[in-house]
Amino acid sequence: MKIAIIGAGNMGGATALGLAAAFPGARITVTAKHAATLEKYAERGLQTTLDNVAAARDAEIVVLGVKPWLAQGVLQQLHGALGGKILISLVAGVPADEMRGWLSGTGLTGAYTVIPNLAIEYRESMTFIHELSGTSETLRTVQMLFDAVGRSAVVDERRLHAGMMLASCGTAFALRYVRAAAEGGVELGLYPREAVEAALQTVKGAAVLLEARGTHPEAEIDRVTTPGGITIRGLNAMEAAGFTAAVIAGLKV
Ligand SMILES: NC(=O)c1ccc[n+]([C@@H]2O[C@H](COP(=O)([O-])OP(=O)(O)OC[C@H]3O[C@@H](n4cnc5c(N)ncnc54)[C@H](OP(=O)(O)O)[C@@H]3O)[C@@H](O)[C@H]2O)c1
Repeated sequence: MKIAIIGAGNMGGATALGLAAAFPGARITVTAKHAATLEKYAERGLQTTLDNVAAARDAEIVVLGVKPWLAQGVLQQLHGALGGKILISLVAGVPADEMRGWLSGTGLTGAYTVIPNLAIEYRESMTFIHELSGTSETLRTVQMLFDAVGRSAVVDERRLHAGMMLASCGTAFALRYVRAAAEGGVELGLYPREAVEAALQTVKGAAVLLEARGTHPEAEIDRVTTPGGITIRGLNAMEAAGFTAAVIAGLKV
């Protein structure tokens, strides 16, 4: 399998490293604007080049990882190199119709907008996939790639936005909870490093617990709230400060 990642920044780079870990036999080539960006990928055994067109020509799957305002220009540059390939665009916020317009005439076999999150580097992404064009075979290939670096869901355009808020921006939201919990832990007397470690392991444990039991979060919350105890008092104090409303408001901006 030959994959070219055009624009190996935060998201493109994490995707390259996650795919390299999941598919050790794949030939993964990354590109960037500046040579310095590519050094760390060369050190990790990936192919690197500043030539987007050469990278795309040599690949079966082309992943676009540049910023939204550069996407149209880079796709124009790649136009003649995409025939017979699958395009995976990581670019968020470009309407599907606009993207289809930019890709018209390229001869791609399939095109997808794919929104992973940064945990893709460690093969723990939640990735949302929206098909712009393609066949059941190209969709299966894209799902196979992203299932190997976490979990994936195929969604329509409306739910792509919801998925992005929950799972991509959601990484920042979850980390802000960890930071808040750690700050509270320090106020209670833990050292900062202890507090971050405790908050992280607790979030990880809660995720594993919920996934293993397949229950609703509130059912597990019931199991840790002793009537009249400190957990329910803590939860109620957080709700009085607007916890749930704040999370929902953040998702709906
Ligand atoms: N960050 C996230 O969590 C996230 C999540 C979902 C989707 N996305 C999407 O991912 C895309 C990239 O975001 P990002 O946060 O990863 O941005 P980023 O860190 O700035 O990465 C963009 C990369 O594109 C490279 N680049 C710029 N112009 C180029 C060109 N003409 N040819 C080849 N490479 C070029 C840059 O190279 P240099 O480093 O050499 O300048 C940089 O490495 C965006 O469209 C965004 O919507 C990001």
